Amino acid sequence: TNSLASQLIQVHEQAVTLYHHVLMNTKLGQPALEYLKKRGLTDETIEKYQLGFAPGQRLLKPFFEEKKTDFKLLRKSGLFSENDSGDIYDRFVDRVMFPIRNENGKTVAFSGRLLVKDPESPKYLNSPETEIFNKRKVLFNLDSARLSIRKNDPAILLEGFMDVISADQAGIHSGIASMGTSLTDQQVYDISRITSQVVISYDGDTPGQKAIKRAIDSFANNSKVAVKIVTVPDGLDPDEFVRQRGADQFMELVKHASSPIDFELQFMKKQYNLESEVDVSNYISEALSVIAKEPSPITRDLYVNKVATEFGVGKELLTSRLVPLIQSNQ
Ligand code: UTP
Ligand code: MN
Ligand code: MN
Ligand code: MN
Ligand code: MN
Repeated sequence: TNSLASQLIQVHEQAVTLYHHVLMNTKLGQPALEYLKKRGLTDETIEKYQLGFAPGQRLLKPFFEEKKTDFKLLRKSGLFSENDSGDIYDRFVDRVMFPIRNENGKTVAFSGRLLVKDPESPKYLNSPETEIFNKRKVLFNLDSARLSIRKNDPAILLEGFMDVISADQAGIHSGIASMGTSLTDQQVYDISRITSQVVISYDGDTPGQKAIKRAIDSFANNSKVAVKIVTVPDGLDPDEFVRQRGADQFMELVKHASSPIDFELQFMKKQYNLESEVDVSNYISEALSVIAKEPSPITRDLYVNKVATEFGVGKELLTSRLVPLIQSNQ
């Protein structure tokens, strides 16, 4: 059809081809191509994701003007910025371009990464909201990952573009990205439609770990999806981990992924100084309220045992404190 959406998608497909051409075949694209190679990407991967480069000068504007593409359409595409006099100019300048596809595999937006750090400018600049792009509703790589998720691979929820792409290149094809640490209810819903199991592996830094806690709650409140958590060691992100240690090591982490309750206990424990008796006591109280949320009595018992053994506290005492907490949850 010739709907606005399909015309916008066509503009995006043309932009994908152009940015990709600049990256692969021009001198302007060379530093970006070297950058991607230095990050370990092969030609095949660059091809598969149709990565590109937006050079430090106007590219799309003259291209679409030459093609006589409708000006109003260009204004709605999100690929241009506009000044006060209504002139448009390329939104993405001097950035490595990552096409963002919707679940039908159509490119609906871009994210452009700076080659060189610039405190004045975001590391990744995304397309704005348009008729065809709502960032809160898209999961990067879902169209492609869904095929291997259907073959029973667990969906692996990652933060970023490079996490997904590195994992895919290394043989882990079921990675999807929330494109940052704020996972929306809509994204949770879309994941729940294609799988009942998800492994969350956000970055090992503090924002990543805090976001996991929020994601656990969101899956619990909005879906029946079973969540497991992989914490990548040494503050690395999954991209760095896969490149340094390989896909097999990452899959080993996935195999031993933590349950939400394990993750929460470990996460909480880090906020206490367990040399201090007051802190130990406070930690145990907080741990009991986490355990109380667990619906299975057997699992609750297992964790009460763990905590009792770990701190040399009587199991009966802990159980007696757990009971009222369970009741207040009901
Ligand atoms: P990160 O800061 O973890 O970046 O953001 P990254 O993915 O590891 O990127 P590299 O390795 O430095 O290239 C995770 C994700 O959050 C979104 C992007 O989707 C990014 O991949 N993000 C991050 C933005 O949208 N804008 C930003 O300025 C930063
Ligand atoms: Mn190509
Ligand atoms: Mn991060
Ligand atoms: Mn990274
Ligand atoms: Mn990261």
